Amino acid sequence: MGRWFAAFYDMMMAPLERGGFQDIRKSLLRQAHGTVLEIGAGTGVNFPSYTEAAHVIAVDPDPGMVARSVPRARQATVPIDVLLARAEALPFPDHIFDTVVGTLVFCTIPDPRQALCELQRISKPAGTALFFEHVRVHRPLAGRLQEWLTPVWKRLAGGCHLNRDTLALLTQAGFDVTCLVPYSQGLFLVIAAKTASPPMAPRLA
Ligand SMILES: C[S@@+](CC[C@H](N)C(=O)[O-])C[C@H]1O[C@@H](n2cnc3c(N)ncnc32)[C@H](O)[C@@H]1O
Repeated sequence: MGRWFAAFYDMMMAPLERGGFQDIRKSLLRQAHGTVLEIGAGTGVNFPSYTEAAHVIAVDPDPGMVARSVPRARQATVPIDVLLARAEALPFPDHIFDTVVGTLVFCTIPDPRQALCELQRISKPAGTALFFEHVRVHRPLAGRLQEWLTPVWKRLAGGCHLNRDTLALLTQAGFDVTCLVPYSQGLFLVIAAKTASPPMAPRLA
């Protein structure tokens, strides 16, 4: 990701944050509880919205983003540690997190299927998963426009794909969607889900 992207990210996002993103983040992230993993945390824009979590570990592979997020971690009301890591290769043991979080990140992750597989691995069974994502819309003209724009857009916007069908990827990866709220005619989705439950033990006759 280009250095300029981290440097200008908050400035570019400011109108959207004021226009409703901040409220969405607040109401989503107050559901984060226990030990929380946030992937692709960027500049730490979500950090002030964690109020109920016991401990948040936030990862991002971009050193420029991580450097910007550290002061926000220090100011947060809950303990937050920031690490350099990719969502596709999380440096954690299996089944330790109560809540997993990703906001505006699945558009950018190069291998979203592998990242979702990792989230299932590190999450406790039937853990909480909270996402706020922009996605490919299911209207023919708008969807095609997203396809056409993606090759150019991803060069300008740090690898962001406008055409990711993140909801489909989530359900294919075994997330059980419990609440789905669309914004801007389905361009943005707020998704609450449960991670996979443990397999049922076979019953003895
Ligand atoms: C559009 S920004 C979103 C930042 C923040 N989550 C937000 O809600 O504003 C996308 C973030 O994903 C990060 N990212 C890129 N590739 C990633 C990967 N493989 N795993 C985790 N995060 C990644 C980028 O460094 C960047 O910080």
